[in-house]
Amino acid sequence: MDKIRIQGGKILNGNVEVSGAKNAALPILMATLLTDQECILGRVPDLQDIRTTIKVLNHLGTETTSDFSAHTLKLRAPEVKCFEAPYDLVRTMRASVLVLGPLLARYGKAKVSLPGGCAIGARPINYHLLGLERLGAKIELEGGYVIASAQKLRGNRVAFEFPSVTATENLMMAAVLAEGETLLENCAKEPEIVDLARMLRSMGAQIEGEGTELITIQGKKSLHGCNYQIVGDRIEASTYLAAGFLTGGNVRVDGVDPETIEAVLGKFEEAGATIIREAHSVGLRSNGRPKATNITTLPFPGFPTDMQAQFMTVMAMAEGASLITETIFENRFMHVSELVRLGADITIRGHSAMVHGQKTLKGAPLMATDLRASASLVLGGLCAQGETWVSRVYHLDRGYENMESKLQKLGAVIERVPSTERS
Ligand code: EPU
Repeated sequence: MDKIRIQGGKILNGNVEVSGAKNAALPILMATLLTDQECILGRVPDLQDIRTTIKVLNHLGTETTSDFSAHTLKLRAPEVKCFEAPYDLVRTMRASVLVLGPLLARYGKAKVSLPGGCAIGARPINYHLLGLERLGAKIELEGGYVIASAQKLRGNRVAFEFPSVTATENLMMAAVLAEGETLLENCAKEPEIVDLARMLRSMGAQIEGEGTELITIQGKKSLHGCNYQIVGDRIEASTYLAAGFLTGGNVRVDGVDPETIEAVLGKFEEAGATIIREAHSVGLRSNGRPKATNITTLPFPGFPTDMQAQFMTVMAMAEGASLITETIFENRFMHVSELVRLGADITIRGHSAMVHGQKTLKGAPLMATDLRASASLVLGGLCAQGETWVSRVYHLDRGYENMESKLQKLGAVIERVPSTERS
């Protein structure tokens, strides 16, 4: 297993091009199951989760041609051969449950292994299943699998108990081929939902209201192929801005819409940074040591849970004490004990973490536990004095494309070391 070695203390300056958004690409790839025509996708990030999704789609019979050097994928699902997303694939990537909506809509059947819990929380899929039942699907649970079937999905009113991102996406993909009108209420408003709606519209779907809590969909008999560019990754962009901030540098991220990260930018400003917003890029000037700033994670447009760990690392270096409250997932503080190994002063109380900022952190060997936690540890290593090793970086590879080379370009001393070179 690869590790990452960081020689901390370098000031990061320069610009970084953001990759396509992982969490937009995953549902968009699944949406190609809705047509027998070719879909061409651009700005597809080269990530482990994307490769897993391609495996799931290939398993179902989709033909794919990938050119990751050009970030382009061609997909065609002429006739689905099998309707099952097996446990071996689902357990490595929960987003595999996103095959449910499209398969049910096009073929009236789908079988998906229940994803089970994961490091950041229990993460059930009851909202997905209740929503699909409202569209007329019969859901059975058998041998750890969800078996869903329907003669023909019919439009209906679905009110989500909580604005779940992937449940909203699953229902959108089901409703575009259902008979009649579907009203989705209390929807997630994340930019990735908006991107999925745009892609579905480019396939001929009739959708309105994405990005608000009410999405209205008129079902179509069939959809056609498309040529679609995936939106830039707002979490990746925010992570590189955080790297610039905590090393005292000036960083610009290109290829992201500032409106999609306004909650994060506002908090960087509150912490003392100057933010320069342009149409498709954002600049950050640090103005010295960050100031303590409280955050509470919330559904979009609130502060994203996917940036909570990285923001905590910035606060670990800030002047004063900050309170970080996580309201989306029940177990998303696993980075805390690792940041403490760098000398951070963080105490967890229930769903909140009290962070007393330190003037300096010191390098240490660290272990990544999940995707965003890994990013926070890399950030910790960048500002800590001396050497930091981050192991289990396969978590990072699920969601950050070429992180080391992007950080090197900003002036970081960081390299990937195959595990055989260090025990
Ligand atoms: N929930 C339920 N039942 C459901 C669905 C969700 O109880 O049927 C709960 C979850 O357990 C959680 C809350 O609702 O407590 C919100 O979860 P949500 O469903 O919105 O999360 P998700 O769709 O599983 C996506 C992203 C996550 C991101 C969250 C929140 C994808 C593929 N994943 O997950 O991304 O943290 O929304 O914004 O889009 C990541 O990229 O690192 C990541 C974990």
